[in-house]
Amino acid sequence: MGYKQQAAEKIAGALSQMGVDNFDSETVYGMLETPPNPEMGDIAFPCFQLAKALRKAPPMIAAELAGQISGTPLREVKAVGPYVNLFLDQQSVAAQVIGTILEQGGTYGSSAVGEGRNVPIDLSSPNIAKPFSMGHLRSTVIGNAIANIMEKQGYKPVRINHLGDWGTQFGKLIVAYRLWGDEAKVKAEPIKELLSLYIRFHEEAENDPALEDQGREWFKKLEDGDEEAQHLWKWFRDESLKEFMKIYELMNVSFDSTNGEAFYNDKMDRVVTLLEEKGLLSESDGALVVNLDEYDMPPSLIKKSDGATLYATRDLAAALYRHETYDFAKAVYVVGNEQRLHFQQLFKVLEKMGYDWARNMHHVPFGMMLKDGKKMSTRKGKVVLLEEVLAQAIADVQKVIEEKNPSLANKEEVARQVGVGAVIFHDLKNFRLNDVNFSWEEMLTFEGETGPYVQYSHARACSLLRKGNYQPGAAVSLAEGALESKEAWAVITLLNNFPEVIQRAADNFDPSQIGKYVIDLAQVFNKFYANVRILAEEENIKASRLALVAAVVVVLKEGLRLLGLAAPEEM
Ligand code: ARG
Repeated sequence: MGYKQQAAEKIAGALSQMGVDNFDSETVYGMLETPPNPEMGDIAFPCFQLAKALRKAPPMIAAELAGQISGTPLREVKAVGPYVNLFLDQQSVAAQVIGTILEQGGTYGSSAVGEGRNVPIDLSSPNIAKPFSMGHLRSTVIGNAIANIMEKQGYKPVRINHLGDWGTQFGKLIVAYRLWGDEAKVKAEPIKELLSLYIRFHEEAENDPALEDQGREWFKKLEDGDEEAQHLWKWFRDESLKEFMKIYELMNVSFDSTNGEAFYNDKMDRVVTLLEEKGLLSESDGALVVNLDEYDMPPSLIKKSDGATLYATRDLAAALYRHETYDFAKAVYVVGNEQRLHFQQLFKVLEKMGYDWARNMHHVPFGMMLKDGKKMSTRKGKVVLLEEVLAQAIADVQKVIEEKNPSLANKEEVARQVGVGAVIFHDLKNFRLNDVNFSWEEMLTFEGETGPYVQYSHARACSLLRKGNYQPGAAVSLAEGALESKEAWAVITLLNNFPEVIQRAADNFDPSQIGKYVIDLAQVFNKFYANVRILAEEENIKASRLALVAAVVVVLKEGLRLLGLAAPEEM
């Protein structure tokens, strides 16, 4: 239990002694404030809300309450006007925080709130035969971090790569391949070649509209299990997936399922039947739709006039499947903001079908990746392929290492960890709905708010422990006064906040809470390091300060891990 909870419990206890019984420790905890300056105390509790229950003026209540609160970790309790101000005994708080972290290691900040329940997370989900876009990168990075954070909260994340491997575009691609395709070329550079076939299809179709019909026919054949169509489709899928796997390997992301849209092909009749039975289908221009007028939304398109199913139909089938397979606590879809309406419609249709559990489904949208203020697109000329971005980041880091630390062991692995980490962190440090401005300079610098900066701070702390010959596992007894500085205290209070930050990140599906937190922690640690002597102190003081550094190492590493970054010990 952190010191804020302890303070809240003491206050709640005192309040119930005073005859107030509807302020439990959780409520009190939510009311706690931080005084505007540390001389006024470390924690403040405002008494305004108690005036009614106690029929007294808040300053009187504060005075009375202050007299009833004492004991570790508090040093002093004072009423100041309508506030009760609490001063912490920093020495005992420090011992408690550091002791907990060193004892729990990587499990510090874990919680059991998820009760082991499943949380399927739909992430990444690129489209077969198309380049892996910046949007898919964002989904991968944000989704993976959310999965780690949910796991830390005691849920069981199920990472699902809902591949875009079905739809009329595959009919078109088959037509294009049969007309102009070259097997060897596809094998050599699958995505590039398939994309150019697809682009050619559209160019030629402008003069030859019959191509579009052929495309539809071939998709119908595919849906009906035609052998040639199935064979080509599977080949396109396998080759594309091989390329995507290279990216996932670089980023160290793996999936529990790669059931994409095609997986639901044989599960869609049931959806249509269910919708029919519930009287939700209506006809519109020969197509079948679910009307959503009452929500001011356009209808959800379920079946086209030629009988082909749609993206929405597949997502309905997938939702039913996930509910039945995982009995989830929550289901999460990490998909760009431009699909907001699609998910609103999806959830409304499920609600109209009478499924209460639709309330536990969350679309977790994110903004765009911009370059020079414009959307980074993978169409035609403007292609910035993700693989190239990652390769470039790694190469840049390699250069820095060659300059600054050429004798580093594991150079290549560290360059990968830092280069990829830079790309991931660049995305995660801002709230996901904000657009990200893609910038090499901003991404790769070792100073400022970057992944390399946090990783570098972690490595510095590790090196300090090595130099100080820090003995892990030794019981922590802090030397009197060793951590009495505002620099040390800033580190300790932040360390204490980690569990709360994780919880907030989980509740809001917001990894940037952790991104900002690790930057803050790296900064206060570096200030501590710059202003407080560590290695040149006498043994007791040195050991106490190193214990704090060791706690920083644990928390920085764990924070980075939650975001999907490695924490090399040397760089
Ligand atoms: N493949 C889609 C796209 O690239 C994203 C799929 C998201 N997941 C889902 N269940 N709809 O736009």
